[in-house]
Amino acid sequence: MPISSRTQVGIIGAGPAGLVLSHLLYLQGIDSVVVENRSRQYSEQRVRAGVLEQGTVDLLSEMGVGERMKAEGLVHYGIELRFAGRGHRIDFQDLTGGKGITIYAQHEVLKDLNNARIATAGQVLFEVENVSVHDLDGARPRIHYQKDGNDYELVCDFIAGCDGFHGICRPSIPSGALTEYDREYPFGWLGILAEAPPSSTELIYTYHDRGFALLSMRSPRISRLYLQCRPDEDIEQWSDEKIWQELHIRLASDGWALTEGPVLQKGVTGMRSFVVEPMQYGKLFLAGDSAHIVPPTGAKGLNLAVADVQILARALKHFYSNGSRELLDTYSDVCLRRVWKVQRFSWWMTSMLHRFPNENPFDHRRQLAELDYVTSSRAAAKSLAENYVGLPLE
Ligand code: PHB
Repeated sequence: MPISSRTQVGIIGAGPAGLVLSHLLYLQGIDSVVVENRSRQYSEQRVRAGVLEQGTVDLLSEMGVGERMKAEGLVHYGIELRFAGRGHRIDFQDLTGGKGITIYAQHEVLKDLNNARIATAGQVLFEVENVSVHDLDGARPRIHYQKDGNDYELVCDFIAGCDGFHGICRPSIPSGALTEYDREYPFGWLGILAEAPPSSTELIYTYHDRGFALLSMRSPRISRLYLQCRPDEDIEQWSDEKIWQELHIRLASDGWALTEGPVLQKGVTGMRSFVVEPMQYGKLFLAGDSAHIVPPTGAKGLNLAVADVQILARALKHFYSNGSRELLDTYSDVCLRRVWKVQRFSWWMTSMLHRFPNENPFDHRRQLAELDYVTSSRAAAKSLAENYVGLPLE
């Protein structure tokens, strides 16, 4: 017999979605338990996203986990779009009425959230095994898992599936209940983390004949750089020297130089757009990457996950204080409206900035015209800016 316990909300996954949800619930007086199959150390070291929208920054601050982010995060009020060897600044501050973004790594956000959960006696169980969910549309939804060789059962009112694209929650829903929308891109990103002061104060998104390149950063000493590559690119074929050489070519611009430094990490990521509808089945609510994936060109993945759980926390609060399921019932629709707008933006940025293997000369000229338009029309630049800094939560 498993060792049985109870909680109000069982949360699968201790990534940004799971931890933000669990801490938001705590602040609202709702009990939760988070189960995660990886170790705390792994999640706090894995290099992932790095761009926080103003809404994400505000939420983390309101939750009391924003102190280090405020001290160490880099606030940016624009990005550069570079093409035909020239840079064009998109001025977020001017175009959005003062908004910006903050550069602060996802794994730093996770450290802050884990510390906050521990300081408030939150239950986050790392390195659990064989997690499964049961009775999702019944009266006693349950999470089963093993830890240190023992079997456990966690009986919940609700379960939040925050376990990412490859997690167990989405596949636990009967397949007929979900519709999936999917697009794979015929390229990936080869990314490096380098011990080099960023060569620009703001991010540079570059469209080049040889493919997309991005200059980003993690701190005043650490650069993060990406190159468009084949989706199945073999990282072993890319020496550090070859990577720098390609970055120099794609990012080149008159009077500008790229600073090199030791490569600390490198890897290849695939690119896809994915949405599942609805984001709920019975008492299971999907949030973040378990329900949707965006290509990284719009820097939206983490922010979208945080928006989902903000909406879910609000709906759960409404349920526990009024006994009303109204907001839980509309959770999926409310999230999906925003999800699809963010999908559109991420797809648009990706399509504008990458070379496509099957494109023809017309497509190429059209992409250049799109870049010319977005950097010369205030209306077009404004549309990019308002999406990049983050659409408002409904
Ligand atoms: C990053 O710094 O890792 C980063 C920045 C902007 C993007 C994607 C990734 O669009």
